[in-house]
Amino acid sequence: MRTTPEQLTRHGWGRRTAALAATAGLVLTMLVALANPAQAASTLGASAAEKGRYFGTAIAAGRMSDSTYIGIANREFNMITAENEMKWDATEPSQNSFSYGRGDQIANWARSNGKQVRGHALLWHAQMPGWAQNLSGTALRNAAINHVTKVATYYRGKIHSWDVVNEAFADDGRGSRRDSSLQRTGNDWIEAAFRAARAADPGAKLCYNDYNTDGINAKSTGVYNMVRDFKSRGVPIDCVGFQAHLGTSMPGDFQANLQRFADLGVDVQITELDIQQGGNQANMYAAVTNACLAIARCNGITVWGVRDSDSWRTGANPLLFDASGNKKAAYTSVLNALNAGGGNGGGGNGSIDTGAWYVLVNRNSGKALDVYNLSTADGARITQWSRNDGAQQQWQFVSSGDGYYRLKSRLSGKVLDVTSRSTADGAALIQWPDANSANQQFSIQTIDSYVQLISRNSGKAVEVQGASTADGGNIVQYSDWNGANQQWQLVRVG
Ligand code: G3I
Repeated sequence: MRTTPEQLTRHGWGRRTAALAATAGLVLTMLVALANPAQAASTLGASAAEKGRYFGTAIAAGRMSDSTYIGIANREFNMITAENEMKWDATEPSQNSFSYGRGDQIANWARSNGKQVRGHALLWHAQMPGWAQNLSGTALRNAAINHVTKVATYYRGKIHSWDVVNEAFADDGRGSRRDSSLQRTGNDWIEAAFRAARAADPGAKLCYNDYNTDGINAKSTGVYNMVRDFKSRGVPIDCVGFQAHLGTSMPGDFQANLQRFADLGVDVQITELDIQQGGNQANMYAAVTNACLAIARCNGITVWGVRDSDSWRTGANPLLFDASGNKKAAYTSVLNALNAGGGNGGGGNGSIDTGAWYVLVNRNSGKALDVYNLSTADGARITQWSRNDGAQQQWQFVSSGDGYYRLKSRLSGKVLDVTSRSTADGAALIQWPDANSANQQFSIQTIDSYVQLISRNSGKAVEVQGASTADGGNIVQYSDWNGANQQWQLVRVG
């Protein structure tokens, strides 16, 4: 029997919610990016959030008991990547036997401290477990897809973005695919992985991630052509990660390169930034930060470690904190750039772009807010449906001022509306011509990386009725109890 919201409220979830809301000022923030923050933020994560972006780091489970390390990580960063603990060798040490202990240690710490998680990495030719290294052909393909499905399902709803495939292009100056046992299973292995990841976790952004792709060159153009092809054929890809392991100079076309990918209709993320210590380190860190701020679809930046002594690049001192945990000049340069930056648009974490189209994925069911049966009629009911990114699942936020928005259907041009201006629990959500009335306006509150839509007229939350997980489940309003069926992930699709 399914537990209803009413039952959960009776069993004390309402009180727990109130307590959570009172203590978790950290995670309950308005989504709308502040155009003119009253005061410059004093940490990287807070400053990036004001620009609608995140600032993250990679964490190693083995270092988490170091109080200096974990203290800096907690204070400065709001996006966390496991440096090694979610890779194939860590999560599936023997075939079909999964091990999430160290990955969970990092993910749970991040989430309990109000941070989001980047998943790294589902498939990569390196750090494959020994058993997978011994497979080839169909057996390897099946094992790889099973791995994607199982791991993405396990972490479903907890991952902001997944590196679905890592480093699949060669450094041959021709933009070819890298030769690997995975590649030898057939050129379609990458798209097969993306399709499996989407089916397993419809709410996570799905990224392709690589290095030496930071400027416009043969390798990045190879990736670009693949992404363009995926977009044209409907292969589910949402983002491209640029590792940005940089030396003492950076490509002059760094920003232009990010922009050409964004123009294909994907988000871009700097995923493993570290820069060789030298005269230019602080300036280069600022330049990377400014490039991300200049591109509306740049979601955020992750640096690959906390202190220089934590870096995989021994001796390069490539990070923002020295071995003692002191802020380096590079740190100040990044923070100043974030605080000064114009914040072009926001990349999908922490701000709403009223020029964009979003699919709203329910946290409980993984299904998308959908105009039932492709209707364009007044009064058509709104349901949830398996995500397909069709126009009936795309919504634009239209500002009504004062932090309220209407949600306009891309299919019908009509807006989400609480039927008959009802203030009752269970009243249906329908589509109706835009009159900018209070029953068509919603405020937006964030919980983790999800949003709640609260009706201006009734004060109630938009939810999937009865926490249904079925296609066609009704969308209604209900008293806000913080349920997963009242939380939606905004996935930008256009
Ligand atoms: O933990 C063991 C230790 O017990 C053992 O004694 C030691 C012996 O070498 O190895 C330790 O494991 C090492 C592990 O890092 C943890 O420190 C592995 O050998 C080492 O190979 C592994 O390196 C990681 C590397 O990926 C593997 O390819 C780095 O930490 C990690 O920063 C690095 O990250 C990659 C990204 O995933 C993808 N992009 C490039 C980036 C840098 O190489």
